[in-house]
Amino acid sequence: MAATVSGAAAGGPAGRTITGVRLLSALPALSSDPSDPPALRGIAALWPLCLEIAERRRLGRPPIDAQSPLGWTAGHGYGLRDEWDAEARALFALLKPLLDRHGARGEWVIGQLGQSLDSCIATHQGDSFFVNGPEGLVHVHRLRALCDAVIVGAGTACLDNPRLTTRRVAGPNPTRVVIDPGLRVPADARVFTDGQAPTLLVCDPDHRARAQRRLGAGRVIAVPRSAALGGQMALADVVAALREHGLGMLFVEGGGVTVSQFVRQDCLDRLHLIVAPVMIGAGHPGLQVRRSDTMREALRPAARTFPLGGDLLWDLDLRQPA
Ligand SMILES: NC(=O)c1ccc[n+]([C@@H]2O[C@H](COP(=O)([O-])OP(=O)(O)OC[C@H]3O[C@@H](n4cnc5c(N)ncnc54)[C@H](OP(=O)(O)O)[C@@H]3O)[C@@H](O)[C@H]2O)c1
Repeated sequence: MAATVSGAAAGGPAGRTITGVRLLSALPALSSDPSDPPALRGIAALWPLCLEIAERRRLGRPPIDAQSPLGWTAGHGYGLRDEWDAEARALFALLKPLLDRHGARGEWVIGQLGQSLDSCIATHQGDSFFVNGPEGLVHVHRLRALCDAVIVGAGTACLDNPRLTTRRVAGPNPTRVVIDPGLRVPADARVFTDGQAPTLLVCDPDHRARAQRRLGAGRVIAVPRSAALGGQMALADVVAALREHGLGMLFVEGGGVTVSQFVRQDCLDRLHLIVAPVMIGAGHPGLQVRRSDTMREALRPAARTFPLGGDLLWDLDLRQPA
């Protein structure tokens, strides 16, 4: 029987590092010598299987069976059967925690932030093109394609006017969600007008009627600000409302304020923090968590690292201490 590489074997347990692999698809070397070993499968073969897994989860279908090149076994989740190249193995190891969320475990919140060594996501003038390399952008588009919804804050929607689609990879566009309590994002922002995917707007109840006039009642979620949370919305309420819309696998893409609020309110299961070897100085803050008085209190999640081009991706399991 062909060997199976589980996530732990392929990617290492928490705290181990996979070195020397890039997570961008590379063209296999061509050979006409029949004595050469058969070409290993790469990311081009892996990615459609990842999309199929996400689709099965969305539709409530059973996982891909164990005989597939990327098959499910009870207790271990998905595993690669041998003959894959190093890039595909690294990508699988990175994505396995997400791919394994199936059935009753299919509700999950994963976030990402690309930031500098000094924890900035843009300069003080808002220039963010680009903090990270192209591999990071491909990774973000992959996460969009595997999740049901992509969430951004009003700051990102105003400054970047993003499309939040999957242009850099094959795969479906997720539902787009903008957290904009006071409706400061312009009505003609791309996410509201381009028709590429559904968009939901999360706003303060005071602005619900205006938002509904703009977008229609079915696209507006009203969540009050909470005095106990310093005037922020309770993100658990946002997550619950999105689940009522059938959106179980949520991707919080940015920016820094929004992702940090998800971490502070304990509403994020996983964080991909992509650190670029650049120092910006007093820019837009990236990840900002609650202050610790002592190192004993500091948040120290289980972590793995993956090279992503010239950047380093920290895969942080916020449900498991190191
Ligand atoms: N490097 C990356 O990975 C990445 C990703 C995305 C964006 N960006 C960059 O990030 C910058 C913008 O980020 P940012 O941190 O300034 O803003 P942001 O996180 O995009 O948006 C923050 C705003 O969203 C609303 N919001 C989010 N969570 C909320 C909550 N729990 N309760 C109430 N309101 C909530 C608030 O709007 P109100 O202020 O209206 O109340 C808040 O000020 C841009 O320069 C963009 O290019 C970088």
